[in-house]
Amino acid sequence: MSRFLLSRFPVGPLIDFMAKKKVPEHRCSGWYTLGGIALVFLAIQIFTGILLMVYYRPSQPWASVQRIVVEVPFGAFIRSIHHWSANLMALGLFVHMFSTFFMKAYRPTREFTWLTGLCLLGLVLLFSFSGYLLPWDELSFFATRVGITELEKAPLVGTWTATLLRGGPDVTIDTIGRFYVLHVVVLPLTVLGLVVVHLTLVQLHGMSEPDSFAALPPERKRYRPFFTDFLLAEIPIWMLVTGVVLALAAAVPRGLAPEADPTAAAPAGIKPEWYFLAPYQTLKLFPGRLELLGMGLMAAAVLSAAVVPFIDRVVPTDRRGRMVALIGAAGIAGLAAMTAWGGLS
Ligand code: HEM
Repeated sequence: MSRFLLSRFPVGPLIDFMAKKKVPEHRCSGWYTLGGIALVFLAIQIFTGILLMVYYRPSQPWASVQRIVVEVPFGAFIRSIHHWSANLMALGLFVHMFSTFFMKAYRPTREFTWLTGLCLLGLVLLFSFSGYLLPWDELSFFATRVGITELEKAPLVGTWTATLLRGGPDVTIDTIGRFYVLHVVVLPLTVLGLVVVHLTLVQLHGMSEPDSFAALPPERKRYRPFFTDFLLAEIPIWMLVTGVVLALAAAVPRGLAPEADPTAAAPAGIKPEWYFLAPYQTLKLFPGRLELLGMGLMAAAVLSAAVVPFIDRVVPTDRRGRMVALIGAAGIAGLAAMTAWGGLS
C-alpha cells in the first residue's frame, strides 16, 4: 500500500528536504520553538475566523456579532478564542523577534529570513487593526477613527492611505467593507504566502547557531534531527499553548460593547490595543507640529530593525555586534516602557 501511494505521490525528496535540518542543542534551544508556536496561533486564527465568517455580515456588523454572541451555539466561545489567540500571537511574535535578535539569527546568510519575519509582524499587526473595527462597537469605531486620523498626518502617503482605508473622508459602514476584504482575503493570502517563503528560507539555511555553540569543537556539538525528533517534541508545547487559549477564552470571554454611533462624541479615555500603545504614547509626547518628529522617530526605529542584518555581519560577534545588541536591548526596554506608560496613563 505504501509503495502504491509513494509511486502516486513521490514525496521522498520533500521528506529528505525536511529531514536535512538539524536543531543545535544548547541552553537557548527552547527559543527555537517560538516560530512553531506562532504557526499554531495562525492555524487557530484561520480555523476560528472561518467559523465566524459563517455568521458575520459586513452589511450588519454589530447585529451579526450580537447574534454570534447571543444565539449561535458556541459563538461567544469561538469569538473569544479568536480574540485571545490574536493577542497571544502578537505577543509570541514579539518574543520570537527578540529571541532571534539576541541569538543573532539574522546575520548572513539569513538576512531575508529576518526581513520576511519583520514583514510578517507588520502584516499581523495590520490583521489586528482591521479585525478590531469589524464588530462596529463604540470602542472599535472611535479607536479606528483616531488611528486613521493619525495615519493621515503622515507626509506624502498619509492622506492617500487614509482615504483608501476609509473609503471616504470618515469611517463609515463602507470602511467595514474594505476592512473585511482586507481581513478575510488580502491579509490571509499575503501572510500565508510570506510564511511559506519564511519557512522555506529557515529550512534552506538550517537553524542558526549562537557564537558560543559555533565555537565548540565538532565532537562537543550536539544536534537533534528536526524531522521527526524536534517536531514531535514540539507537539506537547503546541497542545499547552492551545490549552492556554481555550482557558483564557472560557475564563475571560470577549464582551460586546454598545453599537457604534458615529454622530456621538468619542467616549473619554479610549485607547488602542496593547500592541499599539507604544506608538500612541510616543505621539502624545510630540504634540502639534512636533508630531511629524514623533512619526519620523518611529519610522527610523522600524528602518533600523530592517537594516540590522546588514550592519551586524561579523561572526563571531565583534564590537559592532555588541553595540547592536545593546541598542536593541535599549529599544526593547523603551518599547516596554512606552507600552506600560500608555496603558497606565
Ligand atoms: C507569522 C509570523 C511568523 C511565523 C509563523 C514564523 C515562523 C518561524 C519558524 C517556524 C521558524 C523556525 C523555528 C524557530 O526558529 O522558531 C522561524 C525562524 C526564524 N524567524 Fe520567524 N516566524 C514569524 C515571524 C518572524 C518575525 C516577526 C521575525 C523577526 C523579525 C522572524 C525571524 C526569524 C528568524 C531570523 C528565524 C531563523 C531562526 C534561526 O535560524 O535560528 N520571524 N520562524
